[in-house]
Amino acid sequence: MMPTDIIDKYYPKNDDLRKILVSHSFAVADKALAIARLHPEMQLDSLFIYEAAILHDIGIFKTNAPEIYCFGTFPYICHGYLGSDILKAENRPSHALVCERHTGTGLSKAYIMENNLPLPQRDMAPVSLEEQIICFADKFFSKTHPGKEKTADKVRKNLAKYGTDSVNKFDEWYEMFLA
Ligand SMILES: [Fe+2]
Repeated sequence: MMPTDIIDKYYPKNDDLRKILVSHSFAVADKALAIARLHPEMQLDSLFIYEAAILHDIGIFKTNAPEIYCFGTFPYICHGYLGSDILKAENRPSHALVCERHTGTGLSKAYIMENNLPLPQRDMAPVSLEEQIICFADKFFSKTHPGKEKTADKVRKNLAKYGTDSVNKFDEWYEMFLA
């Protein structure tokens, strides 16, 4: 099954939510693939980057975020692990990890516990270069304005809510992938 077939399965209607998901996910995929092209020395798996970027937000429909037409019951922050559960059930365990490891610059088990987040208590930070690049690329695109790429400064401001470690991680990635 192609990643777009999995989207079709969970977002069957050509409605506002599907349009948001698809335009956001393709914007993230384009940016992640552009980064991969800049770094042949990293020997990245571009097919995986494409597929996992397309699927990374598959869990959003289960959350409650009416401003982006999500009418589920879970807090929005849960969309990563909810998507992960979906892709594990679809037999895509490596794509599932991208889902659960893309919130902020990744959430550590300690951070989840300290902040009492409604998430499984496990480390959910990107590990492989492909996971890191998708998480990084995702930070440049909101879902409310998926066509508009954010500046790095805007991303830093948005990440501040996760603490300075998160902003520092973004800066580290910026150096690795775009400087
Ligand atoms: Fe995303």
